Amino acid sequence: IAQVIGLMLVAYLIGSFTAGLWIGKWFFKKDIREYGSHNLGATNSFRILGVKAGIVVMIIDVLKGTLATLLPVWLHVPINPLLIGVFAVIGHIYPAYAKLRGGKAVATSAGILLGYSPSVFLVLMAVFVIVLVISRYVSLSSMIAVVVGLIASIFLKDYVLIIVMAILTIFILYRHRANISRIKNGTESKIKFKSSKKT
Ligand code: G3P
Repeated sequence: IAQVIGLMLVAYLIGSFTAGLWIGKWFFKKDIREYGSHNLGATNSFRILGVKAGIVVMIIDVLKGTLATLLPVWLHVPINPLLIGVFAVIGHIYPAYAKLRGGKAVATSAGILLGYSPSVFLVLMAVFVIVLVISRYVSLSSMIAVVVGLIASIFLKDYVLIIVMAILTIFILYRHRANISRIKNGTESKIKFKSSKKT
């Protein structure tokens, strides 16, 4: 039990490393929470810090979920890895070293699924991309992907996955409440797909 509590704490501290804040502060001298959607996540990093920094933030925020989920497997701690991974998501939303003002849980949730079940991860990524191409709303794509994940977990009859997906759905919908009202009144920002020209 001490091992499990220790791992939960470590996962929370890993999740607390909100990449967008530190990359913004260290390399751009900006707290991205003061710009754009004010969110401390990969999407707002793309918006404020540019594509390259956005990709780095996204990768770090995803992998910290994956790392937290794989820790109990690597250390042979007998607990369902999702129950550790979810603490990285809590750290990402309420980061210990960023005054508890973190992100919206999307990238880190994707990371824990990548660590737990790459096939579920890939299916939800496909859902995310399809909704994104159609709607151009990252927020809507994130919300639909997590809800589809919850429904899929019920079909898979994986009870721990169902509970964790339910928790992630609640977190993600709750953290997107401002996005939901912006989508309703038509002011949510859309992403642009630039056609990349090869030289
Ligand atoms: O990753 C969070 C995303 O779904 C929405 O982010 O910055 O557009 O509110 P943002």
